[in-house]
Amino acid sequence: MNDSSPSLDVHFGDNLEVIRTFPDATFDLIYIDPPFNTGKTQARTQIQTVRDEDGDRIGFKGQRYRTVRIGTKAYADSFTDYLAFLEPRLEEARRLLKPHGSFFFHIDFREVHYCKVLLDAIFGRDSFINEIIWAYDYGARATKRWSPKHDNILWYAKDPENYTYRYDDIDRIPYMAPGLVGPEKAERGKTPTDTWWNTIVSPNGKEKTGYPTQKPLAIINRIIRVHSNPRDRVLDFFAGSGTIGESAVRLNRHAVLVDSNPEAMRVMASRLAFAKPTFRGYQPEAVETETTADVGLFA
Ligand SMILES: C[S@@+](CC[C@H](N)C(=O)[O-])C[C@H]1O[C@@H](n2cnc3c(N)ncnc32)[C@H](O)[C@@H]1O
Repeated sequence: MNDSSPSLDVHFGDNLEVIRTFPDATFDLIYIDPPFNTGKTQARTQIQTVRDEDGDRIGFKGQRYRTVRIGTKAYADSFTDYLAFLEPRLEEARRLLKPHGSFFFHIDFREVHYCKVLLDAIFGRDSFINEIIWAYDYGARATKRWSPKHDNILWYAKDPENYTYRYDDIDRIPYMAPGLVGPEKAERGKTPTDTWWNTIVSPNGKEKTGYPTQKPLAIINRIIRVHSNPRDRVLDFFAGSGTIGESAVRLNRHAVLVDSNPEAMRVMASRLAFAKPTFRGYQPEAVETETTADVGLFA
């Protein structure tokens, strides 16, 4: 990479803490692919404050209080908590978008409806432009219902009248019946609709990092190519294996990535070494050039 290479920053930490420090309106494109839930047992400690001359807290009129721990409640992360987890992060995403910026939210069929209602409230219903269905066809078939084989990607434009959409940069796909359109059109192919057929990251393919839930570069490349301009700034604050980082840099966009999982940092250190990323809050070990080990499920 030389001086004109796009920059790549990788932050280690809870994304809300990290992105809260970023200035307003500084990203052209934000894509996130959050886990279904936070994946952790949530623990909350309840406290009460009691008047005490020697207390550690100072309250109204300088009076001192001591903190009393009442107990800790732990519970498996539930659906309601998931929306509560997402909401402040989605608010931040909107704040961080430039006026013409776009937000892409990757989720699955189980949660998409609830998330859309939340996103409509944050971005405004007019800002909703498309629901993209990423359809794949891999793995076992269900025998008691139609096999669910798609993800949902919701696109919101901060300003629905003014956003980046590089139509000419859309990759072309083959016509289903090329004989019906003539040789020139058949040769050129057609633009995809809002249903994108693409295989998952092949378990044996070159692209595979071993990180669970890694998304295919073909899907991400299409989003970055069409929804941002060269040298734009792209953010992914649920970065995982760094698919957005790889795509952005290879397509000449600056990228900022955030993840709270040390395994994600290790995978990104190896995968993105070609782009000489700057790590923040994480010290990469000697970088391997290839990732060979499988990475377990994140917490
Ligand atoms: C579905 S994966 C993203 C996969 C990614 N799109 C890829 O292609 O590899 C979700 C990621 O969000 C991260 N994550 C979950 N909660 C987080 C939080 N509060 N702050 C930062 N990262 C978080 C997880 O560690 C995980 O890597």
